[in-house]
Amino acid sequence: MRTEVAIIGAGPAGLMLGRLLELAGIDAVIIERKSADYVLGRIRAGVLEQGTIALMDRARAGGRMHDEGLVHHGVELSFDGDRHRIDFTALVDRHVMVYGQTEVTRDLMAVRQAPAIYEAEDVELHDFDTAPFVTYRRNGVTHRLDCTYIAGCDGYHGASRKSVPEAAIQSFERTYPFGWLGILVDKPPVSDELIYAHHERGFALCSQRSPTRSRYYVQVGGNEKVEDWSDTRFWDELRRRLNAETAEALQTGPSIEKSIAPLRSFVAEPLRFGKLFLAGDAAHIVPPTGAKGLNLAMSDVAVLAGALIEALQEKSSAGIDAYSSHVLSRIWKAERFSWWMTSLMHVFPETGAFGRRIQRAEFDYLAGSRAARQSLAENYTGLPA
Ligand code: FAD
Ligand code: PHB
Repeated sequence: MRTEVAIIGAGPAGLMLGRLLELAGIDAVIIERKSADYVLGRIRAGVLEQGTIALMDRARAGGRMHDEGLVHHGVELSFDGDRHRIDFTALVDRHVMVYGQTEVTRDLMAVRQAPAIYEAEDVELHDFDTAPFVTYRRNGVTHRLDCTYIAGCDGYHGASRKSVPEAAIQSFERTYPFGWLGILVDKPPVSDELIYAHHERGFALCSQRSPTRSRYYVQVGGNEKVEDWSDTRFWDELRRRLNAETAEALQTGPSIEKSIAPLRSFVAEPLRFGKLFLAGDAAHIVPPTGAKGLNLAMSDVAVLAGALIEALQEKSSAGIDAYSSHVLSRIWKAERFSWWMTSLMHVFPETGAFGRRIQRAEFDYLAGSRAARQSLAENYTGLPA
């Protein structure tokens, strides 16, 4: 088999790239390790930046998103029960949309004409410095896919980044000594907008997926196990971290999903190795506090699609030559913002009382300074591509 672009991974990055190439008339094959149902079963990000909304439209996949997504004009920050709203519209004239990654994935799967190859085992990338090809096994049979370029969109644990020789790639990483325990529940959200809450017991987030479905998170220690968290224990902990009024209004119910995600900041450099390009979580990870992971994956592939179209149709290598430095500049800004918001909102046992006073000062600075709030709003709603 032969194609122009072999895309490894059918997460949001791989599916969006495949769709943008398809619309430009470029043949691409997506190879995914899991089944389509498994990919759709993962509950992950929930907030789309304006650039991501526009990209869904460009992919002609935005119809349901506009019907069902919830436009949010601000978020609320709370520090030890003191609340402050960040008004995106007033500060930067921008907004975000609450629409789950599951729905984004479903919509992209639905519009793409060429089917992806799901349940591909032992995916391996070969000869990406010269004449690239990908091998994989499906139903016990080994297949070979020759291609002009490979796009590694297979997430943090995927095969693409791992196939690059160690001497050719540099990693920058920070792990945090805690994770997020998340719960999904079929109850109306406690508030119209998201609430990011700092409390001495740890961070909490009140998010949502729809007017009848809510997503809540609490910061938990790095060694916590999801089996030790009954729904009752989760709701009790969440209530303690919210201010009295919000805790009172919280509607609880049986969880329909519950999981723990570790927090990590990670960037690989560079993102091009001959004819292989890394994009999305394969290239970088952000802690979820700034809601940047999915959005960053989307902005990577928007740039990559343009570069590949230019290379294949106009025979110009300018875009692919610039890809790595172009996207890394935006990636590092999103890394900075996600790290900063994580640092502000979580409890770090090792920083002690001094660290908490600094966090309080930062919160008070935000509450009192339009310039500080504007910076938050500009980053949260998304920097230009
Ligand atoms: P992925 O979504 O990871 O997709 C990669 C795809 O590649 C997957 O389908 C995977 O099965 C496939 N794959 C892996 N290995 C191979 C292989 N060897 N061969 C073929 N295919 C392979 N972001 C937020 O903004 N908010 C959140 O609340 C949030 N929660 C998250 C929770 C978890 C547990 C995780 C892991 C991430 C979370 N994120 C969150 C981040 C966000 O979901 C990601 O940034 C986003 O999914 C990135 O998209 P992607 O397509 O690059 O990678
Ligand atoms: C979510 O709804 O899952 C969500 C929202 C905002 C974040 C992280 C996760 O910052």
